[in-house]
This record gives sequence, C-alpha cells and structure tokens, in this order.
Amino acid sequence: MRPGRAEPHGEGAAALAAAGAAHFLDALATVRGLIAAPDPPLSDAVVTLRPWQSEDIPALVDCIDGDEEMTRWLDMIPQPYRENEARLWVDQATSFWREGSAAPFAILAAGSGEVVGGVGFRWLGEEEAVGEVGYWLRARDRGRGLTTRSVELISRWAIEELGCERLQLRADEENVSSQRVAEKAGFMREGVLRSAHYNVRLDRRVDYVMYSLLPSELPGRVA
Ligand SMILES: CC(C)(COP(=O)(O)OP(=O)(O)OC[C@H]1O[C@@H](n2cnc3c(N)ncnc32)[C@H](O)[C@@H]1OP(=O)(O)O)[C@@H](O)C(=O)NCCC(=O)NCCS
Repeated sequence: MRPGRAEPHGEGAAALAAAGAAHFLDALATVRGLIAAPDPPLSDAVVTLRPWQSEDIPALVDCIDGDEEMTRWLDMIPQPYRENEARLWVDQATSFWREGSAAPFAILAAGSGEVVGGVGFRWLGEEEAVGEVGYWLRARDRGRGLTTRSVELISRWAIEELGCERLQLRADEENVSSQRVAEKAGFMREGVLRSAHYNVRLDRRVDYVMYSLLPSELPGRVA
C-alpha cells in the first residue's frame, strides 16, 4: 500500500473478509484504497487546504458562477454555476477521495478561513505513479500568490505522501497566468501538446503546455 493510503474499510474491508484468508492477497490487489485526507490539513499559514464539504456550497457558487476566466479555461465546469452544480461537485469530490481516484481540496485563506479557490490532485495512471494537478482561484484574490502556494503544498503532499513519481500540469498555451503558476511552483515546461482538446466554449481545439515535477525537483530534496 502506498503511503497516504488508508487501510481498506467499509465495502473494501467487507470484500476482503468475504474473500477469505486464502484469497486475501488477490482481494487486496483489487480493492482500491481511499486517499486519507492530510491531518493536520496542509497549510503554510497563508493558505490551508482541506477536502470540500457541503458548507462550501454558497462559497462555490460565489467563486465560480459567471467568472469569465474560469468559463474560458475550465470548460468542464458548468456555467451558470448554481447551488445544484455546487452540491453535485461536493458529492463527486467526496466520492473521489473515497474511491482513491483523486484528492480535490478547497483553498482557504488561513487567516479568515474563507474559501477562495480549489486545487486538486488526480491519478492518471496509479500503476505508473503518474498524477496531475489542477486549480482555480476566485477573481478578487488573484495575483497574490495564493494559487502558487496551494500548488506547492499539494505537490509536496502528492509526491511525499501518495508516492507520485511524476506530477503533471497542463495549461492552455494562451492561459498565461496558469503557466506562471506552474513555473513559480517549480514545474518544468516540457513542450506543447498540439490540438489536445476541443474547448466547447471557445469553439476551437486548444494546445496545452505540458509541465511536470519530479520528486528530486522538490525544493529541499536531495536528489
Ligand atoms: C490561473 C489562476 C488560478 C492563477 O491564480 P493566482 O492566485 O492569481 O496565481 P498567482 O498569484 O499564484 O500567480 C499568478 C501569476 O500570473 C501572473 N499573471 C496574471 N495574469 C497575467 C497576464 N495576463 N500576463 C502575464 N502574467 C500574468 C501574475 O502576475 C502572477 O505572476 P507573478 O507572481 O510573477 O507576478 C487564476 O487566474 C484562475 O483561477 N484562472 C481561471 C481558472 C484557470 O485558468 N485555472 C487553470 C487552468 S490550467
């Protein structure tokens, strides 16, 4: 089991018990562990990251509904974005943690405790230990380095606690602020994935800049 993986419980534990001792190892291999939320939460005293919860629904709507940048660059997030969309997201995010497929965090301003954005890790190929990070921040707090701090926190956690060996980050080639975040957080620009996605809102195929961060590149790590 990778670090950061909780012991199987609930359905997972029941599956193991039902399998019986003889098939214990086979069953263990097929049960995907949940991802344990960091305790204490990831924080650098300016931002704190914690899993989404239903109390965040009004803040999600306030941050996302009608935001022009998010509408343009994050075409997988519905618009308009109202209570129903926010509730579906919180449910989905909770399932991701439980299934162990992804770890979506709310970004909180550490001082006020207010939700100001979102940052998430997801496995692309867990067998290969390859994952990806994505993010957004509400308009009125942009340009203060909060996203960069959040990406630094989640990246170290994904590498050190989840055992991610290659952390990817993709940004539209025209999304300059997102590319700045990647560079400031220590990701290396690898190249451009041409015509990688059809952005339905922009009604065009877009090129993604591919970035990655490896364990040896984390600040303070000895290669
Ligand atoms: C991308 C986004 C998350 C950045 O959040 P943020 O909190 O402002 O990020 P940071 O403050 O950590 O860094 C932003 C950097 O981009 C720079 N920047 C912003 N707009 C820019 C522009 N038009 N041209 C050049 N640089 C720009 C800022 O100056 C800053 O760099 P600096 O510290 O060197 O001055 C935010 O703009 C956002 O939510 N956008 C919509 C969603 C999105 O695009 N998500 C990413 C999808 S890949």
